[in-house]
Amino acid sequence: MSPSTGSAGSGYAETSGTVTRTATRRRLLMCAPSHFDVTYSINPWMAPEKPTDGALALAQWERLRDLYRDLGHIVEMIDPLPGLPDMVFAANGATVVDGRVLGARFRSFQRTAEGPAYLAWFRDHGFGEIRWPEHTNEGEGDFLLVGRTLLAGTGFRTDRRSHHEAQDFFGVPVISLDLVDPRFYHLDTALAVLSDHEVMYFPGAFSESSRMVLRTLFPDAILATEEEALVFGLNTFSDGRHVLLPQSAVHLTGELAQRGFEPVGVDLSELLKAGGSAKCCTLELRSG
Ligand code: ARG
Repeated sequence: MSPSTGSAGSGYAETSGTVTRTATRRRLLMCAPSHFDVTYSINPWMAPEKPTDGALALAQWERLRDLYRDLGHIVEMIDPLPGLPDMVFAANGATVVDGRVLGARFRSFQRTAEGPAYLAWFRDHGFGEIRWPEHTNEGEGDFLLVGRTLLAGTGFRTDRRSHHEAQDFFGVPVISLDLVDPRFYHLDTALAVLSDHEVMYFPGAFSESSRMVLRTLFPDAILATEEEALVFGLNTFSDGRHVLLPQSAVHLTGELAQRGFEPVGVDLSELLKAGGSAKCCTLELRSG
């Protein structure tokens, strides 16, 4: 469970049984929850009448950021903007593959301004190939890259037509997956990428046909229970070896360890009040 045993990108590998897990250094974008609050409700987790603790949200988020840095990852920052309480969920800000940036176009008016704000960051940081999207998509909330394949969620937020748009723009195959349970409104609440060819997911979040697709693509996937999906155990970031996930996902933590990963528990209980956890706070900047 300890992140102090090594850092990403140093070329080491850990052997557990026959599986060797190697971390690769990632470049990540995060946004401090300086303006975080739950002032509206756009998913079943958000109850504006319930108080939030800003100081605790910040402390929990800082712990996550520090863990990434301790593990050897590069963490970039985008300035949080007042009036955008969900901007802390950087995963929704864009999708970046091979240095190409597909901007986010949010479904709800409350988050609309985040799209251009994130794209401005990319323009200011030397990303040349940027596309303002034609169709609604909520970034890595619904687009998850596994190896060279993009898994794409739809049903609550991201428009299915944006899946084609992403395939055209990135030039990688896109697999559409239908989400059917409003509690798991983004793909990254229902499925986690663990390595270039491994995932874990909660089958109940997907339509019958999407479950068949997932079984075909990933016959050996770790399957999460509803209980673990409900604590956002699938809202996970993996660097190929270390897997950061909510510490309350005890069973998944054990499964990951058995498969040779090194689980690292995090507590983002305040952000959970907005329907987000570790992965939601993290946007991966994949270079070309
Ligand atoms: N309150 C935000 C929303 O409903 C939470 C977003 C969580 N982000 C994520 N990648 N799942 O849009």
